[in-house]
Amino acid sequence: MDETENLTSNPRMQQGAVTIGDLIDARLSRRGFMVGLGAAAVVPVAACVPGSEDAVEAPADVVKTFDFPEIARGIDDTHHVAEGYRADLLIRWGDPVFEDAPAFDPMAQSAAAQERQFGYNNDFIGFWPLEDTADGRVRGLLCVNHEYTSTPLMLPGLGERALTQDECEIELAGHGGTIIEIEQRADGLWNTVLSSPYNRRITTLSTAMEITGPAAGHPRMQTGEDPSGRQVIGTMNNCAGGMTAWGTYLMAEENINGNFGGELPEGHPETQNHERYGVPGGWYQWSEHFDRFNVGREPNEPNRFGWIVEVDILDPTSTPKKRTALGRFKHEGAESIIAPSGHVVVYMGDDQRFDYVYKFVSAGTYDPDDRLSNMDLLDEGTLYVARFDADGTVAWLPLTFGEGPLTEENGFSSQADVLIEARRAGDVLGATPMDRPEDVEPNPTNGRVYVMLTNNNRRTEEQVDAANPRANNTVGQIIEIIEPDGDFTATQSTWEILVRCGDPSDPEAGAVWNSATSENGWFGSPDNCAIDPSGRLWVSTDGNPTTGGADGLWALATDGEERGTGRAFFRTPIGAELCGPRFAPDGASLFLAVQHPGSTDGSTFENPSTRWPDFSDSMPPRPSVMVVRKNGGGTIGS
Ligand code: FEO
Ligand code: CA
Ligand code: CA
Repeated sequence: MDETENLTSNPRMQQGAVTIGDLIDARLSRRGFMVGLGAAAVVPVAACVPGSEDAVEAPADVVKTFDFPEIARGIDDTHHVAEGYRADLLIRWGDPVFEDAPAFDPMAQSAAAQERQFGYNNDFIGFWPLEDTADGRVRGLLCVNHEYTSTPLMLPGLGERALTQDECEIELAGHGGTIIEIEQRADGLWNTVLSSPYNRRITTLSTAMEITGPAAGHPRMQTGEDPSGRQVIGTMNNCAGGMTAWGTYLMAEENINGNFGGELPEGHPETQNHERYGVPGGWYQWSEHFDRFNVGREPNEPNRFGWIVEVDILDPTSTPKKRTALGRFKHEGAESIIAPSGHVVVYMGDDQRFDYVYKFVSAGTYDPDDRLSNMDLLDEGTLYVARFDADGTVAWLPLTFGEGPLTEENGFSSQADVLIEARRAGDVLGATPMDRPEDVEPNPTNGRVYVMLTNNNRRTEEQVDAANPRANNTVGQIIEIIEPDGDFTATQSTWEILVRCGDPSDPEAGAVWNSATSENGWFGSPDNCAIDPSGRLWVSTDGNPTTGGADGLWALATDGEERGTGRAFFRTPIGAELCGPRFAPDGASLFLAVQHPGSTDGSTFENPSTRWPDFSDSMPPRPSVMVVRKNGGGTIGS
């Protein structure tokens, strides 16, 4: 979403509240000089540590390069992909998910139709392979989040008037997720399979969910509609997410504050909690029509959102579960990996200026031969928040009730309190306030973890630190965490800055990467990312237009002489950000989510800034998933 929606409510980082312990020598941090020296010694793969004068030899077999012609910088009304590749539409907002779905009619929308059609603003994309068809066609399940609705572009005839309840219900039905089977044709292209028994829409309007883990049933999770504190209707603001090794889909609830309105009664015990999460945001009009979105009527309902939701994609009748053990915050994503010990480790960012990076380590271990035994692994374990120290180490601080400062003295009476107010737990633990943590993705091929930090124009010179080295940071940076010996469960790791984003010709941007081999490879506002089957990193952006180019996808070298160098591969139409990047297991198909096309100032359903992808006068712009293939097939990016 737009960066203006991610203002800080972290009291530690409001003007004048920063402690001396958060500060380091700004001269050193601006060049990134200190960071990563220890890290480079642990994993000797960086040929050129950005920001350091030191060079470290890289073993040839880990150097991963890209080879494709860059696309030109620019912004126009359509998408562009590198020469030699094709990008085809797979599914658009309003397209059918089921055989009985009504045909999309933008002038006659209804919640009932939307619940049978592909939802709005596709974000996360997951892919789960299924067995080939009898005649040898490759197939799989695509899991796609629908983060939010761009109401002025989505609904006709709005003007300045208030929304009706029916229109709000269309919005609620447009949120959530879609699980849909896709299959690959003989020509390599993909299509949806509407007859598949796996197809499912998950919505804010009607999908019943269970609340599980330490906060389930707690009085702070109880409402008038649900005195048990264990049942909730819907998930919303599902931004990025993750796929688990056992075939479940994790939907991350992000900017949930915006959907709540109303006013909390004076002196209500949830006042401080709701302020820390920006509740109520009042971006939508749902509270006018639904008591549960009005904090004056249901003050606990916001505590039932902001979680990671786990969905069993192989059983379309299953009840999605909100896994409270993974904490409550503005979850961007939840990519996981199985540590060598068998424990499941989930990496997560809290996308707000000055909020934190987390990881969850399961108590139990993954059994590849017993799917059922893995299904509740995410209910028990330890949630950690990251402190990035200037000496290049990461301390992972446990959010465990009764340990350290997480006690009654600081207002925590149970593990449920710690998880419901994970942000405040991070505050008192002294976690490092970051420049908007988005995707955090482990790389199974090298034991490293990439942290997208999208931007933070509120950071002052007094607030810079080693991991967030620029004031008024409009373009972001990417941090690489090195888990010792590939042990993702480690409570002490090392880190370095992989790239400080921005135009390297601008000394104020402070980018410290080799641009010799790439003209258009620099970008701003990294948001989502993907590791391809070769272990190479691809980064998609949200906010790049502030640098004069459209948002899109860049290949980013992490090893060898080109480490830290990007190449522009795909760019979105005007107003859009790029989400979801996900490779098929063979690396020859790449699924991309073009989110909020046409979302520019003053752009409306009647007069949008683009009508991508249909370019029909009777169609508004439509968020869509595309598939990229190399002409003639083959590994993308090579
Ligand atoms: Fe929904 Fe953090 O982007
Ligand atoms: Ca975003
Ligand atoms: Ca995002």
